[in-house]
Amino acid sequence: MKAKPQAHFPATRMRRNRRTAWSRRMVQEHTLSTADLIWPIFLTDGTNRRVPIAAMPGVDRISVDLVAETAGEAAHLGIPVIALFPYTEEGRKTEDGREALNPDNLVCRATRAVKEAKVGIGVLCDVALDPYTNHGHDGLLKDGTILNDETLEVLVAQALVQARAGCDIIAPSDMMDGRVGAIRTALEREGFRDVQIMAYAAKYASAFYGPFREAVGSAKALKGDKRTYQMDPANGDEALREVALDIAEGADMVMVKPGLPYLDIVRRVKETFAMPTFAYQVSGEYSMIMAAVERGWLEADRAIIESLIAFKRAGADGVLTYFAPRAAKLIRNL
Ligand code: PBG
Repeated sequence: MKAKPQAHFPATRMRRNRRTAWSRRMVQEHTLSTADLIWPIFLTDGTNRRVPIAAMPGVDRISVDLVAETAGEAAHLGIPVIALFPYTEEGRKTEDGREALNPDNLVCRATRAVKEAKVGIGVLCDVALDPYTNHGHDGLLKDGTILNDETLEVLVAQALVQARAGCDIIAPSDMMDGRVGAIRTALEREGFRDVQIMAYAAKYASAFYGPFREAVGSAKALKGDKRTYQMDPANGDEALREVALDIAEGADMVMVKPGLPYLDIVRRVKETFAMPTFAYQVSGEYSMIMAAVERGWLEADRAIIESLIAFKRAGADGVLTYFAPRAAKLIRNL
């Protein structure tokens, strides 16, 4: 929408509406609610364990026995969904990432624990092999190539294992072609009609995933980069084609990732498809803010809320963010 013609100064004084706090509140266009927040949580082995992630100050990996309590805290704060990511010990990583299919892997155990706790919160699980492969790639690797169609079969099996554990939202993050359709077909066939799919539809080959790869332990493992399957940061139109395909294949919601550097994509996706549209404020975005906060260069609370409202302004319906609990407390004045 173009700005309409308006009276010139002094008939128009933009500062009139900004003069008082009540007026600023009255004319505010966008609001951030706790319902906009999806909280990604990292899992680790053991019991009663919290392991700090050096590259993500303030974020811990937690053992499965602590997950239900954390989910309860999230629900209490009004956060609708948590997303689960595993740190897989070296010994369980293989060339084919078969730990992804283990019904007793960290993600499945944590999912069951949250669902059994009945705290009224959704569980989102990533579908991709990178936390489980010894080469750190999201798919099967052969002679230096990530195989597409062979990987689809494994991703489908992974999605079904997660659905059986009680996962509410399957989130394919692997960027293989055809994965949303393959997973949707399998979910229908196996009786999981109501399992939602949030597709990482436009996911870029980004430097901002660095701290996440430390968090799930795939950084050291990763050989090469992900540019043959994740998108080129220089491309915008291509994102719309990716999103169109995922919608046609049965995605209920779409996601753009990373977040702040890609707000133009969020806006274009929302305007083009009018779908529930999410953005992922990724690990590197979190760490950038926290690093500056630690040096005293940024005011944490204001920077966090400003970064999150930007997503709403761009058209996002919600944000996956490691700031979720802190932002929820700020929103609720806790
Ligand atoms: C796995 C996956 C990644 C992220 C979410 N799921 C990393 C990657 O693709 O290398 C990144 C999240 C973050 O950086 O916070 N496919």
